[in-house]
Parts: sequence; C-alpha cells; structure tokens
Amino acid sequence: MNAILTQAQQLGDEQSIWFKLTPFLKLNASNPIAFMMQMAERYGPVLPINLGSERVVVITEPEYFKHVLVTKADDYIKYFDGLKPIFGKSMITNDGALWQKIRMPQQPAFHPDAFTDYVPYFVAAIQAKMKQWEDYARTGETVEMVEQTWTLAADMICKALFDRDMPFNPHVVFKYVKTYTDVQEHKGIRQRKQSGETFELTELDAAKAMEAWASVPPAVITADPREEREKTLLKLIENCVADPNIPEFDTQQAIDEIKQYLWAGTETTALTLAWALHLLSLHPEASERVIAESEAILGDREPTAADYTALAYTRSVIQETMRLYPPVWGLIRVAAKDDVIGGKDIRAGDRIVIFGYSAHHNARFWDEPEAFRPERWMDKSAKRQVKYSYIPFGAGKRSCIGGAMSQVENTLALAMLLRRFRPEYVGAVPAPINATVTLTPKGGLHFRIKQLD
Ligand code: HEM
Repeated sequence: MNAILTQAQQLGDEQSIWFKLTPFLKLNASNPIAFMMQMAERYGPVLPINLGSERVVVITEPEYFKHVLVTKADDYIKYFDGLKPIFGKSMITNDGALWQKIRMPQQPAFHPDAFTDYVPYFVAAIQAKMKQWEDYARTGETVEMVEQTWTLAADMICKALFDRDMPFNPHVVFKYVKTYTDVQEHKGIRQRKQSGETFELTELDAAKAMEAWASVPPAVITADPREEREKTLLKLIENCVADPNIPEFDTQQAIDEIKQYLWAGTETTALTLAWALHLLSLHPEASERVIAESEAILGDREPTAADYTALAYTRSVIQETMRLYPPVWGLIRVAAKDDVIGGKDIRAGDRIVIFGYSAHHNARFWDEPEAFRPERWMDKSAKRQVKYSYIPFGAGKRSCIGGAMSQVENTLALAMLLRRFRPEYVGAVPAPINATVTLTPKGGLHFRIKQLD
C-alpha cells in the first residue's frame, strides 16, 4: 500500500503541468479554459509562461501544431508526469523505437476493416445500456451522463476488443477513475489537509482507488472469453508477449496496455457522447434530425457496419461535439532541443502546450465558432477548414490509435439511444467545465431519461 500511496501523491505532483496551470485555470471557475483563451488572444500564438523552475509555452496556431506534432515530432517528446501510475509504461507514454515496437503489432486491431467485426459487439453493449435506461425511464430518477457513457464505452471495449463481458463493476471502476483523474482535486485535498480542514477524499482513498484500478487488467486477462474469437486486440497483445522478437513486450507491458485502453479509450469516448447528448438536449431540432436519420436508415432493425457511412448527420453531431468540447483540450510535449516557433525561442526542456481547443473555437477557422452546427461537417461549400485547426485526436504519428473506431461507437450509440429515448438535460446552462487532463463537466451532466412511444 505504501508504494501505491506514494503514487497517489504524485497525482497532485507539483512537477505536473496540469497542476502548475491550476492558478490560471481557476481564474474563471465555471470555464477555466476561458482565461487561457483570453491570454492567447492578448499575447499572441506563442505564449511563454514562467512557472518557477520551468517554462510552459502555449501555442495556438495550426501551423505550429503541425511543427511540433508532425514536422519535428521527434524533437518534442511525450509528457506524462503525474500520470504514469494510471498508464504504467503503456504505448501512449513511450517515445522513439520502443514506442514503434509496441504500437506496430497492435495497429491491425484499429484498421477500419476490423470495425465490421466489432459492430455487433458495440450494438450488444448499447442494447444492454438501453435495458438500464428503460428502468431509469420508469423510475424517473436523475442519472449522471458521463458515468452512463463511461460504463457503455468500457463495455464496448471489453466486448469488441477483448472478447469479454466486463469482468468488473463498471460503476465502481468509474468512481476510481474519477477519484484520481482530477489533478486539481488532488492538490486541493493536500491544501485543505495542511490547513487542518476536513476533506471528503483522502490520499488513502486515492491510493485504494489506484490499487483497485491495478486489479482491473488481471481480471480482464483471466475472465472467460465470450466467444473464443481469434481476431481481437487482446489476442494481439498476448501474441506480443509470446513473441521472442519483442522482449520488451513482457507481461507487465500487456497489463499496462489494457490499462491504457480502459482509460484512454473510455474516458474520451464517454465524454464525447455525454457532451453530444447535452448539446442535443439543448438543440431539439438537431435531435429530431438524428431521430429522423436513424428511422430512415435503420427503421426497426439494429445497425450493421454498412450503416455507419449512411448515418452522416449523426456522425456530424459527434464531430461538432468534439470541436466544441474536445475531450483532450491540450496536448503536452517536452522540447528535446532548442528550437524557434513563430519567431520565439524554445529552449530544451520547455513544456509545450498544444492548445487545440483554441483553434477549435477560432473565428478565423470556423464560422460562428461558438454555435453548435453539425451541418458544417456536411456542407462542402462551407468555409474550408484549415489543416490542423481540428485536432481532437492529435496529429502526426502519435495521433490517436482508436479515434476512427470511437466515431463508429458514438455514432451508433446516438442513433440507437435517441430512437428509443429522450434524455433531458436538467443541469445548469451553460454547463460548468473543469479542465484537467480532459475537459470534463464540473459536477457531471445530469439527465432525466424519457422513453419514446
Ligand atoms: C473521442 C474519443 C477519443 C479521443 C478524443 C481521443 C484522443 C486522443 C488524443 C488527443 C491522443 C494523442 C495524445 C498525444 O498526442 O499526446 C490519443 C492517443 C491515444 N488514444 Fe485516443 N482518443 C479517443 C478514443 C480512443 C479509443 C477508442 C482508443 C482505444 C480503444 C484510444 C486509444 C489511444 C491510444 C492507445 C493512444 C496513444 C497512441 C500513441 O501514443 O501512439 N483512444 N487519443
């Protein structure tokens, strides 16, 4: 427990950028990103901020995103201070040749050809969620949507990629996940502790959560397969462990890869779907279009992989949601060498914040950037998008391995859920947001579920 306790303390680590940005992010409590946006507007597209012993440089121009993530990707390395306990030594945390050795053999599981195999399992997970929603509709109770969509995303991954029914209670694991994703919260706990106040969440709680999190991958590995499928991501991972040509891919690597998928592949997918349902609840006309499209294309039957392309408006809702609420609002890299960006000196060791959110909300790249307009993704004549002005999945060789798959998951989920239910948002408008590693709704997104006739 002691080692885990130490790891828990690292989450609010003063070395972590997410913590160091806290004073800026807290200046506007209901929208911490707003202050960062104002600073970027005022001081230009390359903004160095001195934070004690190190410098953070915030960049906001698409061409600079390209410079860091694509053109000079090898000179800007991954940054994971404070998050290693969550991701272990998984692919997402590595660089260079080792990263390539780990990513390459897993890549086939994310090729679009594989999605055809996954769709029935996504559908099975969505149907299970719909069964729960029938109960919520009957009781009229209020549900927190990120928890709802997280448990759905975890079920989709377990069924489709691991050939397992979730061998854990997703609601409990979600609670663990929340316990330590909020880096600001962790620091808050320590501050309150120092000033002698009582606090709800102790570091021991965080440590316990982490211990429980560590137990999830072994549960996945040892659970009974649903169907003994041969073409799954879990099989690819097992093959890597058995492959003498990749000695680095050991049992611990396999455990950490599973952790990574159950984190990076669920939190982000779930946030997107929850924010999409929030936006649709505030825009009934868009919601009606999703329902009409679902009825026209699917009728009463369940979707197949072929339907994904035809669900164009629904897919646009997901794309527009990720523009307005990019789950990963900023990517962080460490400069390995001195460089120059936009005429400003970058020093080796600088932490670069690639502030994707700012480009997603910039009127130079988007007409009416604050408006929710899914049609903009369908209208070919609309103002042409500037490359790298939309980077929900990052860019370059380190971009998201599961981005395309998540769009299939969320498009099918929206089409199926809205055909049967009307989720009514009952929280504050605008929903207060929290910007830690991801862009989350502060206090959650609360809904009442109505069943359609
Ligand atoms: C809406 C859904 C998603 C969003 C917004 C998202 C976002 C991202 C972003 C921005 C990165 C790049 C991080 C960086 O450059 O520092 C990334 C990487 C990654 N994502 Fe996703 N992701 C999503 C869904 C998924 C899914 C479904 C999976 C897998 C099941 C997944 C697995 C990964 C992995 C393994 C990486 C690391 C890739 C590498 O380092 O080579 N993500 N994701």
